Amino acid sequence: MWFLLLLACFLNVNARHVGEILCRQCGASLTRQSELINITGVDRNQLQYEYDFPLAGKTTKVHVLTNPEGHKFHVFGAKTAHLHFHGTPQSQATWYPGYKWTICLCRSCSRHMGWYFEPEKTTELDEEKKSFIGLVLENVITADYVDTLTKVPDF
Ligand SMILES: *[C@@H]1O[C@H](CO)[C@@H](O)[C@H](O)[C@H]1NC(C)=O
Ligand SMILES: [Zn+2]
Repeated sequence: MWFLLLLACFLNVNARHVGEILCRQCGASLTRQSELINITGVDRNQLQYEYDFPLAGKTTKVHVLTNPEGHKFHVFGAKTAHLHFHGTPQSQATWYPGYKWTICLCRSCSRHMGWYFEPEKTTELDEEKKSFIGLVLENVITADYVDTLTKVPDF
């Protein structure tokens, strides 16, 4: 009986994490599979290339982009994420025309995780645009992957 209870607990712990996307540095939960989106409207002049990547059980479009300092980022999209906004919204050098960006840091370890993109709302058409988070692929890890590293042996 205790064995079944233990098994139930173990499965439950795993279920809590399924599809979660974590900070690669500290493991804080950032967002989850159901929040993933394919970002549209990238500035083709700034896009180096794009590819489809399997992440947390979904296929996600990744944009490879460079900032004015020459740093390259692999960026994927989420509707929302638990992040700390750093500084004020900026419009210059945006990768997604019509959107201004705010730097986003991990709320636990302050590592750079990506940017919050919000519409400029300069015309009425912009009211339709939705804000989103662009996350840096190299800085995250999925809970499903972490779980494969920490599985207890079968008995
Ligand atoms: C993103 O687009 C691909 C096709 O390029 C599709 O297979 C995938 O389901 C889309 N992902 C999301 C999160 O909408
Ligand atoms: Zn962190």
